[in-house]
Amino acid sequence: MPGVLSSWPEWQEYEHQYDHIPKDPDFAAAKQAIVSEYGEEALRESWLRVCEDLKAITDEISDKRSGIIPVLDTDSILDHGFTDAEASEIRRVGCFIARRTIPASTVDKAYQDLRQYVADNRERVQGWPKETPSMLMLYDSPTQIALRTHDRQLRLQRRLNALWHDGSSDVATEPLLYSDGVRDRPPGQAFLGLGPHIDAGSLCRWACPQYRMAYAEILSGMPENHDAFDLQVRRNAQQTLFPGTAHSKVFRSFQGWTALTRAAASEGAIMLYPNVKAAIAYVMLRPFFAPPMDADEVMDASKWTFDRNGAFFPGTTKPDSQRLSRISHPHLRLEECLVHIPDMAAGDTVWWHTDVCHAVDPEHRGRENASVAYIAACPTTDVNKSYIKEQLEATLSGRPPPDYASGLELDERSFIGYTGHVGVSEQAKAALGYYL
Ligand SMILES: [Fe+2]
Repeated sequence: MPGVLSSWPEWQEYEHQYDHIPKDPDFAAAKQAIVSEYGEEALRESWLRVCEDLKAITDEISDKRSGIIPVLDTDSILDHGFTDAEASEIRRVGCFIARRTIPASTVDKAYQDLRQYVADNRERVQGWPKETPSMLMLYDSPTQIALRTHDRQLRLQRRLNALWHDGSSDVATEPLLYSDGVRDRPPGQAFLGLGPHIDAGSLCRWACPQYRMAYAEILSGMPENHDAFDLQVRRNAQQTLFPGTAHSKVFRSFQGWTALTRAAASEGAIMLYPNVKAAIAYVMLRPFFAPPMDADEVMDASKWTFDRNGAFFPGTTKPDSQRLSRISHPHLRLEECLVHIPDMAAGDTVWWHTDVCHAVDPEHRGRENASVAYIAACPTTDVNKSYIKEQLEATLSGRPPPDYASGLELDERSFIGYTGHVGVSEQAKAALGYYL
């Protein structure tokens, strides 16, 4: 079945509903707060409706597989914006590919520059795996800066931010540039470290009162009213309420990859769960219900029992991203519905909504390196402005970005080939935080 894995990788399962006794009271407290606020009846109503909706949603995904992910042309988005049909489809599936975001000649040179930068600084480049790093802890190589600050990248990000809406009057669509890493993954390198997960925090989605307000309709028995693109309610969510190296302080409207080389299914691509609304609703409701003992009844949502007192949040730990698995989240039918993205060429970008479940391709059976720069779209919010200011101060004084600074000794200013922000446009300087 093209688009899905031929065999499910050994990604961790989160199935200990009955024998898991967390010692940390914050889990039970988050649950109690929500049960007190919304009540069993509303949560049950939502649970049944979301599981019912997922039947048709998962049927459609397993039928269309990678073909459900829209593939658009960057020129058209930049010139005319998204058509109404494109915008509504992106809001529905939560992800898309933009072809030719960065011109081929620019991206080819950027990739060669990256290889040179890594070769020239080999002794000092850190990453995973330790001996021959391919997931690189580099944040300000000339390649990353060129790709992040490219005029087309910034204009596309403005369009992406505008898919969200916000009642306030400030200019939230203006992009801010978040510094993240880069990858140059060789063929044959398996990677099981990033199974199905959702970023932007984990327990904080339930525990932070502002954050859980973003899911109020889901928790109050009206999941069909959930608006996954409401920036006004989401902009103040505390993604780092519980600190962890996996959590970004910034709010990313869409996470993204900019391809420096080809990336294809089973060749180091990314896998996405192409749905936002029902899938995140299911993840939010799942800790309140315990599965039936009879495995044959698991897919019958009405057989699940309300779990008022248990403190089991499957796949949730404080410092890590929200994890998902086949056994803990059965109605998502991950094996059929976590699909490879359509093949990308160098210069293409892929984008997924901040609540979309994704996983890194566990295998790379291609013949060439698969290289991507992690470049997200971040709107201008108070939380983001404050982080970007801090990030710029760090960059200019030779420290890693704040989200990646824990335990990392790195001063890229002294790397051979480092050019910093020399020559970037005024538009890019604004996005880098120079005028905040
Ligand atoms: Fe991720």
